[in-house]
Amino acid sequence: MLNIIICGAPGCGKGTQSDLIVEKYTLKHLSTGDLLREEIAKKSDLGVEAESYISKGNLVPDTMIFSILSKAIEEQTKNSKGIILDGFPRNVAQAEALETLMAKLNKETTILLDLQVDNQELITRLLKRGETSGRCDDNLETIKKRLEVYESKTAPVSDYYRNKNKYAAINGMGTIDEIFGRISSVIDSKR
Ligand code: AP5
Ligand code: MG
Repeated sequence: MLNIIICGAPGCGKGTQSDLIVEKYTLKHLSTGDLLREEIAKKSDLGVEAESYISKGNLVPDTMIFSILSKAIEEQTKNSKGIILDGFPRNVAQAEALETLMAKLNKETTILLDLQVDNQELITRLLKRGETSGRCDDNLETIKKRLEVYESKTAPVSDYYRNKNKYAAINGMGTIDEIFGRISSVIDSKR
């Protein structure tokens, strides 16, 4: 079983590479950002509250994330070849909660893939996507805040998995295919 975390700054290519990984390795894709945006589109209570954090570039509260994700992880790890977690865990508390849940389910995180991309390239990608995405967080002010939050809250998650020997840095610069080639080599070495 492959239970992969794909991590990295906003715009590093987590969603893009997850789609390719899912196809090649037949994994279930769980993106907390996509789940939250579905709630926003539905205008559910959770969506309305989440949007107030997302539009400012802040993380939504951990409790909200667990309420939409715990059940999904349990369901998707049953009778599957594994999962890819995109955008979660986003801070050390979420990483600890994930590992507690995985232990309870008798599953194991295989590896955290850390996509590394220069800040200027991240901003260029996100501003370009913002022209058509309709995402409330794809504007320069919010992008800058997301990058700050990533450095202070999310980057420490890498150390958490490095200490468990479950960490791989991936050069996230270049073409989508080049980056996918680098990711595939790491995943293949874990199968
Ligand atoms: P989330 O949806 O996770 O957004 P993010 O981390 O900011 O990342 P993005 O989805 O913007 O980028 P990506 O890395 O997926 O890159 P993509 O492939 O799209 O989270 C959004 C918000 O939700 C958070 O800020 C937070 O508020 C909340 N949230 C989510 N999870 C949470 C959690 N666990 N806890 C608390 N809050 C949470 O690529 C970006 C663009 O670049 C695309 O247009 C793509 O086509 C293009 N691109 C991709 N690869 C390349 C390449 N190699 N060359 C050129 N362009 C490329
Ligand atoms: Mg994404």
